[in-house]
Amino acid sequence: MTDYALLCEQMQSLGEGEKHWLPLLSNASALLYDTLPDLNWAGFYLIESGSLLLGPFQGKPACIRIPLGRGVCGTAAERDETQLVPDVHAFPGHIACDCASNAEIVVPLHRNGAVIGVLDIDSPTLGRFSADDRAGLEAFARVIEETAEWRGL
Ligand code: SME
Repeated sequence: MTDYALLCEQMQSLGEGEKHWLPLLSNASALLYDTLPDLNWAGFYLIESGSLLLGPFQGKPACIRIPLGRGVCGTAAERDETQLVPDVHAFPGHIACDCASNAEIVVPLHRNGAVIGVLDIDSPTLGRFSADDRAGLEAFARVIEETAEWRGL
């Protein structure tokens, strides 16, 4: 089981010096991809010009823009609600970037209370993400929100 308290501490340490969102999200995606077992993608989409634009990530190249309300990411952003999807093939409108993905979790990110983007994590294993992963990744997202300076966005 993933030690999310430790992961959150590591994220806090990564934000102790430079807090610009670009290196912070880059290191966050590397930390998640390196630590969580059984993933094939971990990264961010950020809202830009009314849709989600691909941000820092680890994994295979992914779709660059996702309209709000579309796919798992667009649904999480539009509803401001974590989407825990045990089987992406059963999710209406799921956008397949890497055909290895079978399960997905998407957590909204906020700035001053408004959704600014999402944290997106994919796994090749059906049912990979649990309620513990959801709580842990929501806490991880809160660390990023509290740390990041969203300069230039
Ligand atoms: N599957 C996502 C698209 C992004 S990729 O998984 C990296 C979705 O349906 O929104």
